[in-house]
Amino acid sequence: MPRSVSFLAAAVLTASLFATAALAAKQKTMSDEEVAGLFASTCGFCHEQGGRVAGKGPKLAGTTRSDAFIINRINNGKEGAMPAFKGAFSSAEIRGILHYIRNLKSE
Ligand code: HEC
Repeated sequence: MPRSVSFLAAAVLTASLFATAALAAKQKTMSDEEVAGLFASTCGFCHEQGGRVAGKGPKLAGTTRSDAFIINRINNGKEGAMPAFKGAFSSAEIRGILHYIRNLKSE
């Protein structure tokens, strides 16, 4: 194999390894503790006891809302009731919050 070709092959391989690593980092899932902390600091003021009881915002534990509804509410909020968080979270954080809400047990 001519040297230029093997160099190219090595460069392509290296580039694809970096791309794979970057993708893995982006798709990193958050631990339950990380999400609970994120929820407590960002949402907990209104969704009290980690979303387990009704407070300024409704109780989220046991919600019958669809994933799409929940993600839409987080992104777009509700005028006069809940702020919009669009752009505030990575997709991993959104997935983490959704998972967190789905696994909440009522108090
Ligand atoms: C300033 C108070 C406030 C904050 C902060 C807040 N919310 Fe809300 N949230 C509300 C209120 C009030 C509602 C009810 C809106 C309505 O009337 O439909 C609500 C509704 C929701 C709903 C829909 C519940 C349902 O069944 O209709 C979800 C899901 C939700 N919030 C998630 C979150 C998450 C996740 C965060 C943090 C990223 C958050 N909220 C931050 C006040 C807040």
